[in-house]
Amino acid sequence: MSEISNSDFDFVRDLVYKESAIAIDPDMKYLVESRLTSLTRKTDYKSLDELLRALRSGRDGALGARVVDAMTTNETSFFRDSHPFDTLCKDVLPAIAKSHSGTINIWCAACSTGQEPYTIAMAIHEQCPELASRIAITGTDISAEVVAKASAGRYNRLEVNRGLPMQLLTKYFVQQGLSWEVSSKLRDMVSFEQLNLIRDWRGLPDMDVIFLRNVLIYFDPDVKTRILQKSCTVLKPGGCLFLGLSETTLNLNTDYQRVTTDRSHYYKIA
Ligand SMILES: C[S@@+](CC[C@H](N)C(=O)[O-])C[C@H]1O[C@@H](n2cnc3c(N)ncnc32)[C@H](O)[C@@H]1O
Repeated sequence: MSEISNSDFDFVRDLVYKESAIAIDPDMKYLVESRLTSLTRKTDYKSLDELLRALRSGRDGALGARVVDAMTTNETSFFRDSHPFDTLCKDVLPAIAKSHSGTINIWCAACSTGQEPYTIAMAIHEQCPELASRIAITGTDISAEVVAKASAGRYNRLEVNRGLPMQLLTKYFVQQGLSWEVSSKLRDMVSFEQLNLIRDWRGLPDMDVIFLRNVLIYFDPDVKTRILQKSCTVLKPGGCLFLGLSETTLNLNTDYQRVTTDRSHYYKIA
């Protein structure tokens, strides 16, 4: 792996922060080097140095977005942390279903390769199937690459082995050679689009539930505050927000009230 100069490192950090708000720590040069070396292999650039020169010159219009994309961490799995999905189906959705009779909109912001929105769809089919026909799940992510994979809904053995019980795999997926594809039953409930959380959210319907899990951790407190504030404006009255296990609204937002259940917790506008 070739080494990048401090000046190139700072250039990439600034670009990634400006375009995505992802804050790369000053001691993470090795990560930038390894991610951009992998990206170089997927392009026609002959070396990391050549890629960096093209990036700095601005002559390759698409390269900036690819660099940002390469710096996202897309770690996810089916039924990640499991309890939020039970709370959603046992506590949150039944109350929302009683409060209005229309479509129940669920937004999975920063959904990576789609395991989270498909998990929500499976949990609903398993735990509150009477609501399935009223549910519309929108999965979004900044990365074009992961949104394409999520839309394809095709997973390899390693991916389905992470968190997905065998009986749900055979019930909701169809085997295609070495891959497993989500069945139309799930696919019909979920749609995907590219969306950058620090840019415009126009075009999204008002939401009953937002899953904003394991993404605020990449942002500094100002950005977290702005995103949490904006999320309140997208939620319908009575709507709920789920964050990741290590994430909180504490010291960032006072509009949300934490609701603790016997399984997990979520946030409601106070
Ligand atoms: C660690 S994954 C979390 C996936 C899923 N929510 C989960 O909990 O398993 C974080 C995701 O956030 C996305 N992301 C990072 N910055 C973003 C931004 N500014 N706007 C939208 N998505 C972003 C990344 O592309 C990545 O797929």
